[in-house]
Amino acid sequence: MIVLHKPYWGKNESNLVVQALKTSDGVGDGIYTKQLVHEIQKITHAKYGFAVPSCTHGLELACRALGIGPGDEVIVPAFTLSSTANCVVLTGARPVFADIDEATYCIDPASISRLITKKTKGIIVVHYAGMPCDMEKIKKIAKQHKLFIIEDAAHCIGSYYKGKMLGTFGDVGVFSFHGTKNVCSGEGGMVVTNNKKLAEKMDIFRANGTNRSAFLDHRVSLYTWVSPGSSFLLSDILAALLLSQMKHLSVISKKRTAIAHTYMKAFQHIPTLQLPVVPSGAKPNWHIFAVRLETPEKASAFTAFMKAHGITASRHYVPLHTSLMGKRLSGKQFIHLPVAQQVAETLIRLPIYPGLTKKEVSHIIKTVHLFYA
Ligand SMILES: Cc1ncc(COP(=O)(O)O)c(C=O)c1O
Repeated sequence: MIVLHKPYWGKNESNLVVQALKTSDGVGDGIYTKQLVHEIQKITHAKYGFAVPSCTHGLELACRALGIGPGDEVIVPAFTLSSTANCVVLTGARPVFADIDEATYCIDPASISRLITKKTKGIIVVHYAGMPCDMEKIKKIAKQHKLFIIEDAAHCIGSYYKGKMLGTFGDVGVFSFHGTKNVCSGEGGMVVTNNKKLAEKMDIFRANGTNRSAFLDHRVSLYTWVSPGSSFLLSDILAALLLSQMKHLSVISKKRTAIAHTYMKAFQHIPTLQLPVVPSGAKPNWHIFAVRLETPEKASAFTAFMKAHGITASRHYVPLHTSLMGKRLSGKQFIHLPVAQQVAETLIRLPIYPGLTKKEVSHIIKTVHLFYA
């Protein structure tokens, strides 16, 4: 069976992990974490970076630092993982679900505008599959209504828009290094920001609400509890693994891009199959290669057909507004989001990762053609 995702492990990963086991106690903010943060800062040009156990933790950290709470609303896309909304819910604020763009599957700026109320404090965007949201329009809306922007950049390590890495356009960006991501450590995440005040708040929250960083930097002689917080640090062992992974980022992006281009070329003559749309100015990392089938029935038939030919092809998120929790949250204020609904029912992801062999790619292409024949 050809799987949907596979990590790209280089030769040095195990060496660095063994070295870390010998030299580090694995506690967060150790020597490997410092190097990892430095590496991420180098490519994102972010002033501050925090390694966290997952993107989910990073999103919560950002929401906590932004000080949202009961009575506040945050606009999030409906087509995403629950993490994008849970981070809002955990603070006591309410996520409000927006529709997505038909071409990029990212949050639709027009839908954001329609949902703004006096309670709205911010927007969380998801750059789906490493394709950019319309950040020009979204930033304009945010500025006009004084809203914060968190970028859920779970899919985005190595994805650029107009020369800048996605995750660096808003107030805070959060990357994922989950085992399914382009660069991974099983579980892991990174928060980046250029905002000093936010960085200070996140720094305290993630260290059990203590001023531990001030102690480590010799600014105070003892560290103490200064505000509410939790333990959101990535183990230094996983940081060592990630540090090694980061060295392959450009190779991983290149290999994925080559497969994406092969798919694009091979499928361009299937008139009813909607291929990924790369917005002008975008240089995606091809975290996901998603196609859209004509109808939900055809999408189901397609996945079954691919499976019968030894290929995993799979749908993605159940739109959050239609989920059990989403419906409970919106209650009578439930809004029908037609694009998110239709995309969720017809979008299918095909395998894409550096380890996919030419033979496998060719088998996938032939099978898709066979389905349409
Ligand atoms: C859009 C989005 N946000 C957040 C996450 C959560 O990432 P993590 O598993 O690192 O918490 C995912 C996971 O795939 C995701 O797709």
